[in-house]
Amino acid sequence: MTDKLIIFDTTLRDGEQSPGASMTKDEKVRIARQLERLKVDVIEAGFAASSNGDFEAISAIAQVIKDSTVCSLARANEKDIGRAAEALKAANSKRIHTFIATSALHMEKKLRMTPDEVYEQAIKAIRFARSHTNDVEFSPEDGYRSDVDFLCRVLEAVIKEGATTINVPDTVGYAVPELYGEFIRTLRERIPNSDKAIWSVHCHNDLGMGVANSLAGVKIGGARQVECTINGLGERAGNTSLEEVVMAIKTRKDYFNLAVGIDTSQIVPASKMVSQITGFVVQPNKAVVGANAFAHASGIHQDGVLKARDTYEIMRAEDVGWSANKIVLGKLSGRNAFKQRLQELGIELESEAELNDAFARFKALADQKAEIFDEDITAIVSNTAQAEASDYYRFVSMAQKSETGERPQAKVVFKVGQEESVSQAEGNGPVDATLNAIESKAKSGAELLLYSVNAITTGTESQGEVTVRLSKGGRIVNGVGTDPDIVAASAKAYLAALNKLHDPSQQKLNAQMAP
Ligand code: KIV
Ligand code: ZN
Repeated sequence: MTDKLIIFDTTLRDGEQSPGASMTKDEKVRIARQLERLKVDVIEAGFAASSNGDFEAISAIAQVIKDSTVCSLARANEKDIGRAAEALKAANSKRIHTFIATSALHMEKKLRMTPDEVYEQAIKAIRFARSHTNDVEFSPEDGYRSDVDFLCRVLEAVIKEGATTINVPDTVGYAVPELYGEFIRTLRERIPNSDKAIWSVHCHNDLGMGVANSLAGVKIGGARQVECTINGLGERAGNTSLEEVVMAIKTRKDYFNLAVGIDTSQIVPASKMVSQITGFVVQPNKAVVGANAFAHASGIHQDGVLKARDTYEIMRAEDVGWSANKIVLGKLSGRNAFKQRLQELGIELESEAELNDAFARFKALADQKAEIFDEDITAIVSNTAQAEASDYYRFVSMAQKSETGERPQAKVVFKVGQEESVSQAEGNGPVDATLNAIESKAKSGAELLLYSVNAITTGTESQGEVTVRLSKGGRIVNGVGTDPDIVAASAKAYLAALNKLHDPSQQKLNAQMAP
């Protein structure tokens, strides 16, 4: 019999901890729905005690997700666990994931607790979590750098107390595959009740080995859950990437002999959605989801692929959800055709008002651009959700003038609360002038960390997708804007980032902070 590998997605929790990747409640619900379509087993929807915004997002996800288990992270204390349980109340299937650091370094320097105190707190946390649900996961943070004897003592005790999943994080991405795999195997062999829990791996990618370490944890260590994120999103160098793990398990079934429940045709749509919402662009040569992942550029390869695909292809692009850019709609398409295409793309809008708004944007875009692709539709929906969720600053219109030898000028009309404001400025280029014009009114004082432009489809008539990353008072936010005019896309992206800075529900605790 083939064992099943549980796919635990933490894009909305660990992925979101990446500076600038914070998402609104509506954005998180959209991603959660896509993760459900992808058929992930567990969705870690957030860290309920970290902020009201996270609490609300987890509650909303718990209400709409029916097939995947919904999970909240909680530090090992009653307040956090109580908050997680409350946020998960409506879930069909719920999990509480509680953690405390167990490495000498973290216990002494971060927690300022003795090993015995950590041991007692871990047991109490599991007992309290079990009073809320039967599905409880425990993570010894910085587990891989922890003393193995102490770790065995803690893990044996938490399993006895009722932890059903034991996750062993390589919190700082220090592991190498063989050693990490053996570490998991040692724990499972030495802990007498280890067979009472499912073992899980959680690897960060600081040395570029997150996926390799996770797979070694599975193959050598016998883990049966992998924690991962779409596109490998996450702090620093990111987390283990879901798409790479899933396709490795599927493509090398001869070696792993494991089953995964993932609908792989939903991988690329999930990747595009996460990238579009967070503004974290996927590198072109990224395995599975990069734009070049299936492009055979060299003549020899093309010749081989044309004669027999498997000469150079180990996976099929269509199996992971790549489809050629298809013209799906145009100027004459009606509301029903638009609605049907949304359904085919698996996009569910929350209300008729949202559908009307998205349709109006579609019509406006079709006036500017003859051919509308699936990517355009996804961007329209992103913009609709974004504009609804964060409406303090709203783009109205803009004009800009640039001429060789002249300093570019821009005029931007946008709403600040209920008031319409018109501001003008000059700059080094049209984008600089536009952002200066907005800033002259908004006066955010934020520092611009990143500005990037991407074409969302091919050809010069494509919409531009602009990402702006701002930093202020220790917070980092991303804003994304799309428009066939990249200067207008830049204005929208800047306003979206200002909206995130303006939204207090986006302020949250980081999971790695001391309790
Ligand atoms: O990397 C880590 O240690 C974590 C835990 C909170 C599970 O994300
Ligand atoms: Zn982590």
